[in-house]
Amino acid sequence: MSEQPKDNQAKISNHFSNTIEYWHNLYEDSTYLSQHMANRKKIVLDLVRKYAAGNTLKILDMGCGTGILTRSLLDENHYVASLDCSKQMLEKLEESLKDSNCKTFLGTVLGNVADTSFSAEYFDAIICIGVFQYQLHDDDLLREISRILRKGGFGVFTLPNLLRLNYLLDPFYYFRFFIRTIKRTLPKAMGKDIGTPNALSGEVSETLPYDKKYFMWQLNKSIEMHGLRIKKIVGFGYGPFTFWSKQIVSDKKSVAISNALDRATKRWSFMKYFSNRWVFVVEKT
Ligand SMILES: C[S@@+](CC[C@H](N)C(=O)[O-])C[C@H]1O[C@@H](n2cnc3c(N)ncnc32)[C@H](O)[C@@H]1O
Repeated sequence: MSEQPKDNQAKISNHFSNTIEYWHNLYEDSTYLSQHMANRKKIVLDLVRKYAAGNTLKILDMGCGTGILTRSLLDENHYVASLDCSKQMLEKLEESLKDSNCKTFLGTVLGNVADTSFSAEYFDAIICIGVFQYQLHDDDLLREISRILRKGGFGVFTLPNLLRLNYLLDPFYYFRFFIRTIKRTLPKAMGKDIGTPNALSGEVSETLPYDKKYFMWQLNKSIEMHGLRIKKIVGFGYGPFTFWSKQIVSDKKSVAISNALDRATKRWSFMKYFSNRWVFVVEKT
């Protein structure tokens, strides 16, 4: 396993531990982002339902946060374990389940998604939502997902899109991409490890975790190399549209535009190349 520098791990844990309430309430607000996250949750749960095909599964919620998805999976009677590197996130999840008398919760695990203590092929399914972009090395995470997933089991994970429509239409993002590329190239030329060379657009920051965006095909080779096969890619969410990074239509209108483009994507699937995010479903071969 390539080394996951402790400082990025510490940054992730710090950042999320300090923003628990934000993440916990994110799905509930009426903002554009909340609606986008609620859509993400719905798509993930629909896909799990589809590939579970009526079976009760042993699922790992990898990078579970405060357990929004854990609780929904428990409601559907799956056995769920929840792993995160933020102790405070896990405490919030335990607190929310304490009166639920839920018999299928397998418990929380404090740890690193790329290096867990689970035995090989332990899970029927793994969900890893909103997590890849913070890792320095995507390969370490894919390898771990593959290791602890049983043959024929499935994984669901999300990736944010670098070529999303609203970035392509706003010159600000070309400018930002240029600056970030320079910020990445200089330390790398000086021999500093800033992560996988494929990770474009990641912000190299002293305090915040790495936060990168992807091309749709960027992980395809690694996915295959780690014994996984892509079963489905769902693209969703467009906007909010901006000029020089300032939102030009209200959140309400942005949600309506995004929903209309989501409906169009169901018809013209090439549109997903330009959506904000993708949900990938992979199978362990
Ligand atoms: C954006 S939140 C998403 C939470 C949840 N999956 C959801 O969809 O609501 C990302 C979570 O992943 C966790 N995380 C990110 N990188 C991690 C790592 N290397 N090891 C363990 N947890 C990690 C963070 O602590 C945070 O709680």
